[in-house]
Amino acid sequence: APVKVTKICCIGAGYVGGPTCAVIALKCPNITVTIVDLNQARVDAWNSPDFKLPIYEPGLEDVVRQARGRNLFFSTDVDKGIEEADLIFVSVNTPTKKSGVGAGFAADLNYVELATRRIAQVATSSKIVVEKSTVPCRTAESMRTILEANSRPGCRFDILSNPEFLAEGTAITDLFAPDRVLIGSLQTEEGISACQSLSDVYANWVPKERILTVGLWSSELSKLAANAMLAQRISSINALSAICEATGANIDEVAHAIGYDTRIGPKFLKASVGFGGSCFQKDILNLVYLSESLHLPEVAAYWRQVVEMNEHQKRRFSKRVVDTMFNTITGKRIAVLGFAFKADTGDTRESAAITLIRDFQSEKAYVNVYDPQVVEDQIWADLTEAQPLVPVDQIKKQVRICSSAMEACRDAEAVVIATEWKEFLDIDWEEVYKTMNKPAFVFDGRLLVDAAKLREIGFKVVTIGRPAP
Ligand code: UDX
Ligand code: UDX
Ligand code: ADP
Repeated sequence: APVKVTKICCIGAGYVGGPTCAVIALKCPNITVTIVDLNQARVDAWNSPDFKLPIYEPGLEDVVRQARGRNLFFSTDVDKGIEEADLIFVSVNTPTKKSGVGAGFAADLNYVELATRRIAQVATSSKIVVEKSTVPCRTAESMRTILEANSRPGCRFDILSNPEFLAEGTAITDLFAPDRVLIGSLQTEEGISACQSLSDVYANWVPKERILTVGLWSSELSKLAANAMLAQRISSINALSAICEATGANIDEVAHAIGYDTRIGPKFLKASVGFGGSCFQKDILNLVYLSESLHLPEVAAYWRQVVEMNEHQKRRFSKRVVDTMFNTITGKRIAVLGFAFKADTGDTRESAAITLIRDFQSEKAYVNVYDPQVVEDQIWADLTEAQPLVPVDQIKKQVRICSSAMEACRDAEAVVIATEWKEFLDIDWEEVYKTMNKPAFVFDGRLLVDAAKLREIGFKVVTIGRPAP
């Protein structure tokens, strides 16, 4: 009979492991969930008495308040967590490799391997080991080999793949009501039984028909495929936005019209200054690398183009800013509103704002940045990483971090909306207009503001996917 899971350990208290396992604890009061991480500061933040959690996610604090100390625990004692659990989620980081074979494309699986080896070393009883991090296909196989080669006699390891599809900013609602939960296992008796054990955990709150069970390889590939197809939609709409700007069509109208086709559907068709986030680019590059290693260069080129189109969109946008401002922004002050890769998150990984600010800086503009959630140190870290050859002092001379949108816009010649934060809709634009140099430009990279209203005030407004008026 399938093992009844009573103790879960999650290795990695990051954006994926933290919220996912916090929700499992909330929904399964009879299961003890321990989330372990090597990073003491991160664990301390999860444990902080005043709930100053290490990630910002609407609704997360409420979940942690209810479950922490009851059946949800955060700890740096990785070994104890492993030893006590019957099911272990591996939810460590899998960044793109920066050097060596596949640099810039392949996932760095070092963290996954180290965590796996730790499990093999420490475990004294059988475990179900669940791959939760996004990893290229066949990682589960490597994990299995490592575990089998290093396990003690009498210890059985069953490997599952259970990719996470939550989106940042909506993590908690996504976890409460997922479109689907996907579990992949070997199609052996033991594999299917382990799969059943994990299904039973999710069945505490997810309807049975939404729990999909497939083979291990299908599960791993599905995660890469889902992100690649989502990113492809954005690159497709962004490619069309360039045509709109050149012709007089309006990308919002086009997206609305095509979204009515039920085969296409209305979601995820918002033109933007480019997608960001930790997943899309990374997963596509993984898929590219995988295709190349399978000797499928045409397939690799097809997916690679999705990322190239995204790079093009960012470059096209900063060029449009310069072109519109009489072909030079040297010495001009530009207010960049938003630094996170999307609204409702403090995460900045691969954020388009980083590229835009770098471009503005190389045109020798001054930049004021404001974001409601991103912490200052993160902004400096991202900007210095984006321009490794420019000394920090130089960057700090050109960039100022502001504590409100109003402050960022004061004395600026242009406002660039880089993230679709709702609060930018409530900006007192009449007031902003008064404090800006004229002509005052607004570049809306997120189709956020009402261009007609701003024009009435006096702004020159330039919007993605619409020709300049
Ligand atoms: C994504 C997937 O949605 C999620 O299923 C997966 O588990 C992880 O990767 P995430 O990166 O958190 O989630 O956010 P998402 O909402 O998908 O947005 C990604 C990027 O695309 C953001 O920069 C967003 O602004 C941009 N985007 C999204 C658009 O430009 N237009 C859209 O229509 C939708
Ligand atoms: C298409 C559009 O669907 C229609 O809206 C437009 O007005 C004209 O072009 P059509 O070419 O008649 O219609 O057929 P469609 O059903 O779209 O199929 C086109 C091709 O795609 C066919 O060869 C079909 O076999 C193939 N196809 C379709 C697939 O290979 N896989 C699919 O999932 C769907
Ligand atoms: P993701 O977005 O995939 O959740 P994060 O970087 O936010 O990625 O989180 C991954 C976490 O995993 C980090 O906090 C990191 O410290 C932790 N981690 C990495 N390797 C190990 C390990 N071997 N044992 C415990 N924690 C680990």
